[in-house]
Amino acid sequence: MHERDRGGFSTRQLHAGGAPDAPLQPRPLPIYASAGFVFTDFDEAERRFGPDPGGYSYSRVGNPTIDAVERRLAALEGGVDALLLGSGQAAVGVALLSLLEAGDHLLTAPSLYEGSRSLFTENFGRLGITTSEVADPLDADAWARAIRPETRAIFVESIPNPRNDLTDLRLVADVAHAHGVPLVVDNTFATPYLLRPIEHGADIVVHSASKFLAGHGTVLGGVVVDGGTFDWAARPDRYRHLTSPLAALGGLSHVEAGGRAALAAYARASIALRLGPTPSPFNAFLIAQGIETLSLRVQRQSENALALATWLAGRTEVASVDYSGLSDSPFRGLADRYLPDGQGSVFSFTLHGGRDAARTVIDHVGLFTRMTNLGDVRSLILHPASTTHAQRSAEQLAASGIGQGLVRISVGIEDVADLIADLASAFDALPAREPSTSTGASVTADVAVAA
Ligand SMILES: Cc1ncc(COP(=O)(O)O)c(C=O)c1O
Repeated sequence: MHERDRGGFSTRQLHAGGAPDAPLQPRPLPIYASAGFVFTDFDEAERRFGPDPGGYSYSRVGNPTIDAVERRLAALEGGVDALLLGSGQAAVGVALLSLLEAGDHLLTAPSLYEGSRSLFTENFGRLGITTSEVADPLDADAWARAIRPETRAIFVESIPNPRNDLTDLRLVADVAHAHGVPLVVDNTFATPYLLRPIEHGADIVVHSASKFLAGHGTVLGGVVVDGGTFDWAARPDRYRHLTSPLAALGGLSHVEAGGRAALAAYARASIALRLGPTPSPFNAFLIAQGIETLSLRVQRQSENALALATWLAGRTEVASVDYSGLSDSPFRGLADRYLPDGQGSVFSFTLHGGRDAARTVIDHVGLFTRMTNLGDVRSLILHPASTTHAQRSAEQLAASGIGQGLVRISVGIEDVADLIADLASAFDALPAREPSTSTGASVTADVAVAA
């Protein structure tokens, strides 16, 4: 292992993967804002288009700024290779289109980001790929029963939002592998600082880098990390696109040419290259800037979130708080196992007063920003039932536990006393509520102890 790839997480988030060759030796990541790269002569041009290019040709194929961010992300997630893409949606799409074809089945957990759900059911559906949800994601037998002969991938989120109904990754991975199917995990809300799914059996990890990885709400991005763990050749009738010989690889298959990184090689050469969701080198630079402080931000955000969740749980206006770090959360056992260093920043709480109460609180915050992004250094607030989940029927909302009184927050790195005071003053605007357990000012002291 290279010296730069050793050490603890905070060291690796600064150094892992190294920097591109840059003759003037800048210390930060240089931005190679270039669509293409010069060929010094005829022979070099020919080489760049061959099976062993040894350099850059065109930024959709490869770019030194993007490559450096990919190496760092692969190192942080513990994978063998990573692809950086233009958005999280692009990452989910590229990862699954690298696995699935017409006639295949995708099995998912019931709690999914709406963009992923509609990509699977509508767009993949039109391509002849069927998607179904497991009934009870905590039951290994339910997963086993839901797997079909044509199932070619299982997709879950490590921390689903907004309900924080954590996934038992090891349980799902064991069932998936017993049936010869890879597990794909969207790790957006945990980040590799809190949880590295590959260590718990995942084969492929995806992220929306627009959230915590970038961290400052300035940029969109996505990541696919190949864990290098799945044996694509174990069942030769499956994943033929990875195991069949290809003229472009001199008669080798992707598995033979790419070894453990075969899936990433295929995703890069045959899916991302052709569909074209390439990030700009400038965006890659902004994501790299974010990654350098990931552990510090996520640590602080998790501490703030726990303090806020604890405070909210003590308010009479609040019916429930969905934060896995709370001692009475039904997911506390999984949080202890998978998220011992912090339970993340995004959670929801449900107000007794339903939609009207949610409207009042959201319209009366001053420090929280009303916004649909997540994972920003600033705290954000949203009403899922009327925004991100507005397309879902009342029955579907009820089934996923997203009521009209549910408010989602993404907790930033502000002073937690100020965040509590902001929510307390918004709660003061609620009509005819029962007396609260405490005032905003004194609650701050309570939470300082609880945190
Ligand atoms: C869990 C999850 N995955 C993927 C995405 C899609 O990411 P992006 O918005 O970067 O395309 C999102 C967006 O909110 C998300 O929450």
